Amino acid sequence: MLIGKPRDVRASEITPESIYRQRRQFIKGLAAGSAMLMSGQASALARYALDDEQQRYPGPDWLQQKLRAAGKSGEFSTAEKLTPYEHVTGYNNFYEFGLGKEDPKARAQGLKTDPWSVEISGEVHKPGTYQLEDILKGVDLEERIYRLRCVEAWSMVIPWVGFPLADLLKRFDPKGNARYVAFTTLEDPQQMPGQRSRFGTIDWPYVEGLRMDEAMHPLTLLAVGVYGDALPPQNGAPLRLVVPWKYGFKSIKSIVRIHLSEEMPPTSWNRTAPQEYGFYANVNPAVDHPRWSQSTERRLPSSLFSPNIIDTQPFNGYADQVAHLYKGMDLRKWY
Ligand code: MTE
Repeated sequence: MLIGKPRDVRASEITPESIYRQRRQFIKGLAAGSAMLMSGQASALARYALDDEQQRYPGPDWLQQKLRAAGKSGEFSTAEKLTPYEHVTGYNNFYEFGLGKEDPKARAQGLKTDPWSVEISGEVHKPGTYQLEDILKGVDLEERIYRLRCVEAWSMVIPWVGFPLADLLKRFDPKGNARYVAFTTLEDPQQMPGQRSRFGTIDWPYVEGLRMDEAMHPLTLLAVGVYGDALPPQNGAPLRLVVPWKYGFKSIKSIVRIHLSEEMPPTSWNRTAPQEYGFYANVNPAVDHPRWSQSTERRLPSSLFSPNIIDTQPFNGYADQVAHLYKGMDLRKWY
C-alpha cells in the first residue's frame, strides 16, 4: 500500500474543464440564490433536486443570477406531475442537430449560446439588434409549468422559466398594422450538423409564426430556463418560444430574429408538408394528422409495459384561456 502526503489536487485537474467551469458557475449561482433569499425575496424559485446534479446546464453567470431570482409559478401553471429532467433534456426534437430524439443532447453541447443577439424588425417603432443580456435587463423571470404536446402524440409536463412574449413586444412598440409575429432560428451549419445534411426535409433556417393576438396572449412565453436552470442547447438555448396550446413544433428554438408583419409569415412545417401542418396547429383531438391519431397521447416517461396513454384535450387543456381567439373559425379548415 502506498502511503504518502497527498499533494494538493485542484478540482480542475481531475474534472474536465467544461464540467469544472459549469460546477463553479452552479455554486456561484447557489450563493447568489441564498443571498437573495436572505435579503427577503422569499418568492425566489426553489432549486430542484436532480437525480444527477452533473446534468445541470447552468448557462452564463448573468443568467444564473436572474434564474435564481425568478418567481414561483403562478395561476397559469399545471399541478400535474413533472416529466423528469432527463426526459425533458434527453428526448428532443431539434432537427438542426439530427432527426433522432437523442441527437440534440448528443450533438448540441458545443452550441455557443452566450453572447447571443436577437434582431427585432418589421412593423415596430424601435427596431434593432439587441444582446439577450440587455433584453433581459429589467425583466422579471417566472416559472411556468406547462404541458407540451407534440404532433407525434407524446407529451411532457415541463417547468419552464421565462417571461411573456407580450412584455417584450410591447417594449419595442408594435405599429398599428402589425398583425403577425415571425420567428427565426439560428442558421449556422458549422455549429448545427443537421443543416449540413443533404437529406434534410427542412428549408433552413427553421421559421415559425403567430397571429398578433396569440403572441400577446399571457400564456405565450419566451423561455430562457427549465427546471430552475438555463435552457440546455438541446431545448433551444438561449431563447425559445413556448405556446402551450399548440403542437410542439410551433415552439421554435434558439431564436435570433423576431419580425412583426402585416402578412401571415411562412412556417417551416407548413412549407414542408402543407397538407399535414397548418399555420395554427392548435392541439385538437378531433382532427387527426395523416400519420398520428390526435385523440390520445403518450405522457412521458412511457414504456411498452407502462405506456401511460391519456386523452388529449382540446387546445391541450387550455381551452378556457384561448378558445375565444378562434371563435367562428372552422378548426378543421384552419388546422
Ligand atoms: N425548433 C427548431 N428550431 N427546430 C426544431 O426541429 N422542433 C419542434 C420545436 N421547436 C424544432 C423546434 C418540435 S417538433 C417540438 S415537439 C419541440 O420543439 C420540442 O421541444 P423540446 O425538445 O424542448 O421538448
